[in-house]
Amino acid sequence: MTHPTTLPAWQALADKADPQTMPSLRDLFAADPDRFADFSLRLDDVLLDYSKNRIDRATRALLIDLAREAGIEAARDAMFGGDQVNLTEHRAVLHVALRNRSDRAIRVGGTDVMPEIRAVLARMKSFSEQVRSGAWLGATGQPIRSVVNIGIGGSDLGPAMVADALKPYQSPDLAVHFLSNVDGTQAAEILKLCDPATTLFIVASKTFTTQETLANAHTARDWLVSALGEAAVERHFVALSTNAKAVAAFGIDTDNMFAFWDWVGGRYSLWSAIGLSIAVAIGFDRFEEMLAGAHAMDEHFRTAPLEANMPVLMALVGVWNANFLGAEAIAVLPYDQYLHRLPAYLQQLDMESNGKSTCRDGAPVTWTTGPVLFGEPGTNGQHAFYQLIHQGTRLVPCDFLASAETHNPLGNHHLLLLSNVLAQAEALMRGKTEAEARAELIAAGLSGDELEAQLPHRLFSGNRPSNTLLYRRLDPRTLGMLLALYEHKVFVQGVIWDINSFDQWGVELGKALAKAILPELSGEAAANPHDSSTAGLIATIRALRTG
Ligand code: F6P
Repeated sequence: MTHPTTLPAWQALADKADPQTMPSLRDLFAADPDRFADFSLRLDDVLLDYSKNRIDRATRALLIDLAREAGIEAARDAMFGGDQVNLTEHRAVLHVALRNRSDRAIRVGGTDVMPEIRAVLARMKSFSEQVRSGAWLGATGQPIRSVVNIGIGGSDLGPAMVADALKPYQSPDLAVHFLSNVDGTQAAEILKLCDPATTLFIVASKTFTTQETLANAHTARDWLVSALGEAAVERHFVALSTNAKAVAAFGIDTDNMFAFWDWVGGRYSLWSAIGLSIAVAIGFDRFEEMLAGAHAMDEHFRTAPLEANMPVLMALVGVWNANFLGAEAIAVLPYDQYLHRLPAYLQQLDMESNGKSTCRDGAPVTWTTGPVLFGEPGTNGQHAFYQLIHQGTRLVPCDFLASAETHNPLGNHHLLLLSNVLAQAEALMRGKTEAEARAELIAAGLSGDELEAQLPHRLFSGNRPSNTLLYRRLDPRTLGMLLALYEHKVFVQGVIWDINSFDQWGVELGKALAKAILPELSGEAAANPHDSSTAGLIATIRALRTG
């Protein structure tokens, strides 16, 4: 455990990060015609272009030194080796085992977990094939037409994002819905679309104690039972969980439960039984292709030297931007409508993993950790928040994602889309100088005071960093690679920042307070001592509800 700021490479990088002496991105490109070739990396059909970041070869070498000094290689080996890298929960972190397509044993506490993983995958295959083929019948003898995944956080965001991302592979005969919010409006709207006789509920919860998921599962159960009777539950409910006792207590037969393990973190769980809704939506073979893509990225991450390691380089660029250039956010901008839920998914992956301010040894961190992550698909975002990214006072590094080929070749839409993503990255890098802006205004017929008044508003500083991830086409394998890339990037950053990326204690306080407030709202319990704001809001809700 090493505080990063004490590492020699950190000090050297801090010395290099001087805005006065650093060359601009324009200068870097002008000085080096091979910059793209040298600052990009390809693995199969996925290319990472990180050349539009403010790093030169010397900075990159120092960043690699930083990774080495921070012990990335040992930390990576510890994760793949099943060590308890989740220190506060004393757990191994082995989402990589879930997609291990090799014969390699992966051990937790001396036991190879691969046989168990393969057994659950085999059950997922059989069950998803039965549902998709119509062999799995509901209580009235009809095949399933709607599947509702009930879960939240990692038990929702991954499967929901993937189901949308791989929509071209979905069967038109089966609608897949994702119910997460405790706001009853979402349940009401989804249930309106479903027929009890042909609906399957997949209750996804690692702990099977999550308030929102249990509330939604009970509502769904009541809805089903009021239409078809208690006996129908068996044919219409399955559970995905690590907690068989709680599944049974809820009333789902554990024969209808698909297990996973405490060494699978919620936000890393879409590769486990939590991915059942994905397998049902796109078919098990496609699900396995996604696992294979993730495994290819895992093998690359595990074996490639740091200098040519895509997740490591992406992580280091992020550390440079955050810790040395002062960026506090990152925008993830998929120019791929099917990836419209990717930013929401990555928000949990990145912000729940690395939104920490305590070092692994318990000391407070004194450096910046995980960024604020946000994003929207292009080109929509261009007409909303890109103004700030181009001309605002904050530095917002961007990840652009785009596919060379589209699933929907409509006219020249895809080339329009691609021209926009390339233009945005180029504009952020180049900016527009005073001379360029002046020439444009003159060409547009402006002169004199009006030209001088307009000029400052038309300048773009440029020099704004971005990565571009380019892939052939968004298929299951490519998606698996991209998601594993982001997972490992987050892991590497967590190691450098000396934090535990695998716990999430920060979500607990709000959960506990909500439990205490619930009976106060309903009037079942006397008001607890609250601050005047919370007390005032509780009183107002009660008055408005009864008034
Ligand atoms: O509240 C955060 C969290 O614990 C996430 O980490 C997790 O993905 C989510 O809740 C759902 O948890 P579960 O799968 O146990 O219902």
